[in-house]
Amino acid sequence: MDNIFIKRAWYMVAWADEIAAGDKHKVMVMNAPIVLYRDTKGALIALEDRCCHRAAPLSIGRIEGDDLRCMYHGLKFGRDGRCVEIPGQAKIPPHACVKSYAVQETGGWVFVWMDEFATADPALIPPVEALDSPDWIFRRGHLDYDANYMLINDNLLDFSHLAYVHENTFGDSPLYAQQRPEITKLDRGVRVSRWLRNQPLPPSSMKAGTGRADRWMSYDFLVPGVLLMKSGAYDVGTAERCNDGPPDGIDAIESSCTCQLIHPITETTARYFFINGPATSTGTSEQAEHALRLTYAAFREDKEMIEAQSSTLTLDPYVKMVPVSADAALSIFRWKMNALMKVECDALDAPLGAAKADSKRAAGV
Ligand code: FES
Repeated sequence: MDNIFIKRAWYMVAWADEIAAGDKHKVMVMNAPIVLYRDTKGALIALEDRCCHRAAPLSIGRIEGDDLRCMYHGLKFGRDGRCVEIPGQAKIPPHACVKSYAVQETGGWVFVWMDEFATADPALIPPVEALDSPDWIFRRGHLDYDANYMLINDNLLDFSHLAYVHENTFGDSPLYAQQRPEITKLDRGVRVSRWLRNQPLPPSSMKAGTGRADRWMSYDFLVPGVLLMKSGAYDVGTAERCNDGPPDGIDAIESSCTCQLIHPITETTARYFFINGPATSTGTSEQAEHALRLTYAAFREDKEMIEAQSSTLTLDPYVKMVPVSADAALSIFRWKMNALMKVECDALDAPLGAAKADSKRAAGV
């Protein structure tokens, strides 16, 4: 079983509107307890959720201005994690501090950088769609898994399972298993694209069962577990007109978008956030609700299979897997994850600039 954690990456940990002024929102990422709260101007602060005195959670502490006070013995911490007050003690030791994490709020998503604050690179924030994008009618959800997060990544990198796991929900075409997609390597991931020619309209369509279409889908899957996908139904014959390439500039009968982000809670648990919905130009709120219900039903099918898979792997974590051609995208992605992990390990004693250069090389940049 894998226990790969990449520290130099942004992990989606919460929806921004879950953290109101005065709230303390606790999350766990890669075994690290984190508490999020807002300062007096509304900006997010992320601190280690474990007091440096006797390890009480700061998430049951008290917000005081921009600071957070532990409500066990009263130590108070600033936004940078440094202890600024010890009741009854004038001198504060320099090592009296908790870890402070870089945090970014964008489009309704909250991301935390899991390495040292100074290494945070905003350019690596995944290009997710905003929840309130005028182009899409999004609905959102999340699921918790009792499984290593890489098993969920694997699942999303090989849609051949749609024909079997999702036979009664998404898997309306056996072509998902029979026809291999186009795979392109990216700097920090892989792009998976495919046409399914002359197929019924997808189950998420309110017109499902009433007509046929050429169906296009393309997604980028990025480190550490980010799926960004657009799909559309087009007039039959469009795939041929496009020479099986992207349908750029061609109007879809209907189209949809989804963003799905996973973070490891521990080595054996994970949280899976997602949004999806139809294009504003071709869809309705009713369709968005229908798509969300279908998505939850399908994702619960994934969860059941992946947790069962995780249980059998627990019996023998070193069991030999037999690769098949459908594993191509997940093999590329795992190679990138392993390469980045190795760079992080090798760079522990290296200067940051050198480590960043190595990281880019390992990612094939
Ligand atoms: Fe936090 Fe003692 S455990 S002040």
